[in-house]
Amino acid sequence: MHLTTKNCSFQSPLKLLALALVLILLPSCGTTEQQDDSLRIGVALYAQDDTFISALTQNLEWLAQEAEGETGLKINLFISDGRSSQATQMDQVDRFLARQCDVLCVNIVDRTAAAVIIDKAEAEGVPLIFFNRQPVAEDIQRWDQIYYVGASAQESGELQGRLVLDAWRQHQDLLDRNADGILQYAMLEGEPGHQDALLRTEYSIKALTDAGVEVEKLTNDTANWTRAQAAARTKQWLEEFGGEIEVIFSNNDDMALGAIDALKDSQWEQQDWPLIVGVDATAPALEAVASGQLYGTVLNDGRGQAQAMLDLAQALWAGEDPAQAVTLEDGHYVWLPYRLVTQDNLERLREQYHLLTREPLPSG
Ligand code: BGC
Ligand code: CA
Repeated sequence: MHLTTKNCSFQSPLKLLALALVLILLPSCGTTEQQDDSLRIGVALYAQDDTFISALTQNLEWLAQEAEGETGLKINLFISDGRSSQATQMDQVDRFLARQCDVLCVNIVDRTAAAVIIDKAEAEGVPLIFFNRQPVAEDIQRWDQIYYVGASAQESGELQGRLVLDAWRQHQDLLDRNADGILQYAMLEGEPGHQDALLRTEYSIKALTDAGVEVEKLTNDTANWTRAQAAARTKQWLEEFGGEIEVIFSNNDDMALGAIDALKDSQWEQQDWPLIVGVDATAPALEAVASGQLYGTVLNDGRGQAQAMLDLAQALWAGEDPAQAVTLEDGHYVWLPYRLVTQDNLERLREQYHLLTREPLPSG
């Protein structure tokens, strides 16, 4: 059985779940017969229920459908859910290779495990596009048919810091609650070891200290990118530090929304909330920016990343020079820029980046 972009596009949480179930059963590229007239892309996700990753995947499906319409080329996307297990993902990659996928897109569970996947793909001559979870440079250099599509983690940290710096400069009287001239903060961190967790944590604060703002870290902890864990952490912090926290930095939007959940749950008046900033620009986060609950976020261009993956895959499949299809750095990297999002530019960016504004309606 083939899952094509037409019959496996998912549009609602229910369909997503149904798709996930189908994919657990069928993490392969279909039959063993080679189909020369179609491009078969195996897409190995680290965890399909991750908000940012599921939006990126949805864009990939929409863009593949669009490309099919424009070029007449049949594009089959085969999507597997690694469920945060590198062992599970290895099996899925093995199956994609055994079933002769033309290109693999890998959102690797464990960033340090890339060498094994690279060696397998190279042995089969199947080009690899890593995305969102960045393998170390030495692994990317192992073979010339390896690519990474993503966005600079450092840049996202710097932009988030700039968001807070601007707020501090414009409204220090409001932000500096205890009027000591120091910015007291809490940091909600993503998964340990993820490049975005490490560098966003570091560079958001560096943007402030480089600009001469004195900061004091009251507390920090990982909430593994997830809303529920962030809500639990923030709840504890509110009990421990109460109104002392002036800013909550969150490595992504889901965790920022978790902090908001905790504030609501603890019956805090919105005017007393600390300033909260995230990264991603997911649909619910944009709603929170619009309503003023989230001060701002940094747009992680999942649609742009999906487009780059697709353009690369098509070029590699056709035997064309990938540098003609995408802007390549050092022969391997495609970097999509981040953008600041505040209430002021929200609507413009929504249009420009085709941002999802809500959970799409079920099709059909
Ligand atoms: C996103 C997070 C996401 C993570 C998954 C990051 O770039 O900002 O929201 O959970 O990637 O790898
Ligand atoms: Ca202060």
